[in-house]
Formats: sequence, C-alpha cells, structure tokens
Amino acid sequence: MSAKPSAIIFGGLNTNSRTLAAHLVPLEGEALVSNLLIIDKYSVSPPTTYLGAEFPQVLAKPNVEYRQANLTVPATVASCFEPSEGQEPFTFVFDLSGEVQWDRPEEVQIERTFNVARLIGEEAARRNVKAYVRLQHPFYKCSEKGSHDEAEDVEPDDVLGRWWHESLRALAAIPNLNLVILRSALVYGPYVDFNNVMNFMVVAAVYGYMKQPMKCLWAPGKHPSHTVHSEDVAGALWALAEWMGRVGRTEALSVAGEVIRFKNEKSKVKAVEGVVPADTECKAPLFNLEDDSELTLATLGETMTSFFGAGFQFHNFVVNTTAKFKLEDMVEDINEAHVEEWTRMITTSNPPIPNTHYSAYMDLYNLRKHVVAFNAGKIKRVVGYKLRHPKMTNEVLKDIIDKLKAENSWPNLDS
Ligand SMILES: *[C@@H]1O[C@H](CO)[C@@H](O)[C@H](O)[C@H]1NC(C)=O
Repeated sequence: MSAKPSAIIFGGLNTNSRTLAAHLVPLEGEALVSNLLIIDKYSVSPPTTYLGAEFPQVLAKPNVEYRQANLTVPATVASCFEPSEGQEPFTFVFDLSGEVQWDRPEEVQIERTFNVARLIGEEAARRNVKAYVRLQHPFYKCSEKGSHDEAEDVEPDDVLGRWWHESLRALAAIPNLNLVILRSALVYGPYVDFNNVMNFMVVAAVYGYMKQPMKCLWAPGKHPSHTVHSEDVAGALWALAEWMGRVGRTEALSVAGEVIRFKNEKSKVKAVEGVVPADTECKAPLFNLEDDSELTLATLGETMTSFFGAGFQFHNFVVNTTAKFKLEDMVEDINEAHVEEWTRMITTSNPPIPNTHYSAYMDLYNLRKHVVAFNAGKIKRVVGYKLRHPKMTNEVLKDIIDKLKAENSWPNLDS
C-alpha cells in the first residue's frame, strides 16, 4: 500500500509530457507519485523524437516506465491500465494525446485525436480513475476583446481545432469519468520545440545576431498573444488532478462545469462514430491557464527581440495587405534571410550543432495571425493555483537558452 497516487501520462511526448514527467518525478527532491507510466507512439531509445537533456534522466528513475504503443488500438489502450505485479490500479490519468500538426487531413485528426481521446477516456471511466486531466492546446480563434473567461464562446481554429474541440465533447459525455480540462495559452519553456513561441524565439535570436530589427507581418492592433511557461502547464495539470481527486465529479461539475458547445459541421460528423449529437448538452469542468504578462504580438516581439539585442518593427500597411491575400506564396521569401543566417549560426557554433531540432523556418501556420487569450482567474480562484513563472522575464528566457546551450541544441557563439 502506498500513500502516494500513481499516474499514467498518455501522449504528448512532443508537447508537454516530458515537463509533466519531470514535475511528477523531479530529478532532485521527492516524487509526487508512487509510480509513473508514460505511453506514446515514439521510441525513446533510440529516440524518434526530440527528448531534451532532462527527460532521459527522469526515465532512468526506478519508479518511471516508458512504453511505446499505438493508442489507436483499443486492446492496447486497455492493457496500459493494467497495474504491474503488486501495484494498485492507477490513480490519475493525464491525457496529453492528440495530433498537433496543423496540416494533417480530417481523417488523421479523427483517428489520432478524437478516437484516441475517446478510447483512453472510456477505459479510464471503466477503471474508476480518481482524476482524468485532459490538456487542450490553444487551437481556437480567440476574440481580441472580451473577458476571455471559460464561458466565452470561442471558435475552434480549422480542422485541427475542430477535432480537438470535438474530443472534449466526447470526453464530457462519458458517464462517471472524473474529467477535468486544462486549456492552455501559447506554451514556451526549456526543451519545448513545438508551437509558434519557440519558433519566434529562434527567429528573434537570428535578428539579434544579425543586429537587424525583426519585422512583423501583422499590423500591431491589440493582437493578444498570451503565453504560459511549460512548468506552469505541468504544475496546473497536477493541481487539477489533486483537486479532482479531492472533490469528485459531481462537485467539480457544480463549481467549475462549463458547456462545451457543438462547433463541428453537421455534415462532417454524420459518418463519424462516437460524435455526441449537436443537440446534446456537454458539460465539463474547464480551466484556462496563461501567465500574468498578457502579452500582445507587439510586447511579445519586444520582449524576445530585446532579450537577443534586436529591435522589433511592424511592416507598413501595404505589406500587410499583400500578406493577407498571398501568404502562401510568400512563405519562402519571408524565410530566406533568417533561415540562411540560422544555418550559419548552428554550423559556426562552438561546437557546431547542425542537427538541432530548433528551426528558424516559419511555416504557414506560424506566419498566420493567431489570437490567444484565456484568462486564468478561475484556476487561481477555485483551485488556488499559483503561477511559478508569472512573467516572461529575461531571467526566464535566459534559463531556457542556457539549458539548450548546455545540451548543444542552441548555438554557442559568445566567445
Ligand atoms: C496503429 O494502429 C492502426 C490501427 O490498427 C494502424 O492503422 C496504424 O498503421 C498503426 N500505426 C502504427 C504506427 O503502427
């Protein structure tokens, strides 16, 4: 018998799972869980995805296990819940599964995001886990104005956003699942190589190196670009699991339940098994998470570029208008200068790091306008969560770069 809970993390090795694992079983200090199982489609030895320097050390801990598995297969998902010899059933499930690539077709999103979440959720309900915490990325088109709280009606962004959102409805409809959802702003942090903020950071570093201003495609406007540190995503996922374990489903729904509206196209969901009918009300405890910086595109740009010693400017209106209509055709031109310079930086670095996972290439998704704002008042108020990194300060940015330099994935050009 163990006093501490045990946990499984599904998916997210390419997003937040590694930071969460390090939060649950830190390299130094006491573990929060008795044992931890992490499951994803990637191999970790040899690695078939970027792992960062810290995660292999977490995996080396005696109470941590990694398993490579295909989570689209129901029997495989069920087998993941079987406790090892002599261990209690798992207490908490962290569902970080789902396809985050923006350009995957609808069928892939249905298979890898929607179906996988349903399978894990249904099995977790059968096993009576005490908390099922689902991570939702900011795949929404937030409004530039408004309260940005959980009750606000936000539109999912494109195919990616629609199926991530549909997954929330499917999970909310599973009877007896102790579901709680964390909806995060734009994540950045050490060993995080997905999403636009880290990509932006690389490009800001390039302009700093060139001693030229970084020029932004979009007019300043309000353009909220709210961010959150990856260690706060991990901390909040844990805080929600503990909270749910304490209060239970009924109480959680009554104090934090939100309606998860139908946002799909009726014609598109007819043939998809498991979609909850449009007129069925789905409710789930939902919590936003973002830091206190309330960055806009302008202040995010200034924060990052000033850290690297570059300026930040906006193109004039004519360029913006052109960009609006022909962004697809301009991607290569926009990238030419900074990608070439980044290549120079990583090859002349001491030591050279030509194979780093960090890239200066801004793809169409990263070049598009994204408005992200999710007020985090509720998780602070209801759960009592305190941010570890309330602001994107120079110290926070320096910590990220220092860690990446130490593992040779960020150019070292100082001397
Ligand atoms: C995972 O399983 C599905 C369903 O059996 C199959 O279609 C897919 O190819 C498998 N993926 C891998 C990477 O093996």
